[in-house]
Amino acid sequence: MRLSTYFLPLLRENPAEAQIVSHRLMLRAGMIRQSSAGIYSWLPLGLRVLRNIETIVRAEQDAAGAQELLMPTVQPAELWRESGRYDDYGEEMLRIRDRHERDMLYGPTNEELITDIFRQNIKSYRDLPKNLYHIQWKFRDEVRPRFGVMRGREFLMKDAYSFDLDLAAARKTYNKMFLAYLRTFARMGLKTVPMRAHTGPIGGDLSHEFIVLADTGESQVYCDKAWLESDVLSTEVDYDDDLEPFFRQWTSLYAATDEKHDAANCPVPPDRLLSARGIEVGQVFFLGNKYTKAMNVSVAGPNGEPVVPEMGCYGIGVSRLVGAIIEASHDDAGIVWPASVAPFGAGLINLRAGDAACTEACEALYTTLNKAGVDTLYDDRAESAGAKFAAMDLIGLPWQIVVGPRGLQKGVVEVKDRKTGQREEMTAEAALNRIKAAR
Ligand SMILES: Nc1ncnc2c1ncn2[C@@H]1O[C@H](COP(=O)(O)OP(=O)(O)O)[C@@H](O)[C@H]1O
Ligand SMILES: [Mg+2]
Repeated sequence: MRLSTYFLPLLRENPAEAQIVSHRLMLRAGMIRQSSAGIYSWLPLGLRVLRNIETIVRAEQDAAGAQELLMPTVQPAELWRESGRYDDYGEEMLRIRDRHERDMLYGPTNEELITDIFRQNIKSYRDLPKNLYHIQWKFRDEVRPRFGVMRGREFLMKDAYSFDLDLAAARKTYNKMFLAYLRTFARMGLKTVPMRAHTGPIGGDLSHEFIVLADTGESQVYCDKAWLESDVLSTEVDYDDDLEPFFRQWTSLYAATDEKHDAANCPVPPDRLLSARGIEVGQVFFLGNKYTKAMNVSVAGPNGEPVVPEMGCYGIGVSRLVGAIIEASHDDAGIVWPASVAPFGAGLINLRAGDAACTEACEALYTTLNKAGVDTLYDDRAESAGAKFAAMDLIGLPWQIVVGPRGLQKGVVEVKDRKTGQREEMTAEAALNRIKAAR
């Protein structure tokens, strides 16, 4: 992509309405624009990150055995009357009436809808287990939408719903999702700590919140410092294994949100206890038969007897993650994207856009980088070097390649690693290899 034609409205000043760094940087880097309180448009750069996050979420859900479908955003009220939540859900639900005076709503979550799909189509124990997910926009009329995409009213969520024949099978599914969640967040460069959680209006009695430690988090959390050394991606596990030992190991270290932490009876000695702020990026719930019972769902069991399936539900805040990753990875100059979610693999800076040799070298590099699968943002604008460096640092691509007349005379370009700030001169070919090798 050439920056001269790309829609990337960068802001030089900090927007007054943004209180936390991720919100400020998302506005400044031209990723989002607010349309009304807690509702945002995703501009091209922001959308790229959102899509990259979706791709990781999708891959890990699929690997764990969940199957993707897509349910609508607008739902009929009847289903929510069946579960009893139409009245319970309260002011957070956006209620709509259609031209036939039918009560509809913009889905804040999808337990009812998926349970209805399940009961209409699955009749036998032989078709279990099933774990179905979608990545879809939700609307919750939050009292205080704030912090940009972190607490929006309209937001993108991955929500999965599982159906199992009995408790033991439901427990296995819960463990698979638990592992998938740890892997998903780790692949985005995030350290998340699973914490026992209250189940809230969703119901059920076993739940974990996945918390990213960050100073601007909305929750106060406590955990064993040993969490900081944990690394799930280096742990070899297979979804077909018995995951109970894994689950035990990953819940053995102390971790609790404010609501669950009891300072007087905390098992961790003070020197090992980390008190921090946290951002909830996902939550898994074991639901039991709350919805299947309320909505009269049963399948024929092995002896023909009706069995009420056990459910679980599993949410990931896909749009919140964009903000959470920035909270966890930025510096004074701007965003520092982990390579796995970066909007482009590299930025190419032409220091002298009017110079024939610079332009020729840049065009050649731009072509080879893209051909090699390194999606590249090429700053071909006639701006000052300072403005180009600042823009590149702000948008935080993992690598910058700087092409200038002085370097070209020596046959080199400069490669900058955005994360470490380290700069090194090398040939264009070496630059390409360096970036390819780092992926
Ligand atoms: N208002 C919101 N804005 C952005 N993301 C949200 C919002 N509410 C929830 N999420 C994300 O969706 C995930 C699943 O939602 P859920 O746990 O049902 O919501 P809550 O924690 O608000 O009860 C949360 O872990 C969070 O990452
Ligand atoms: Mg939650």
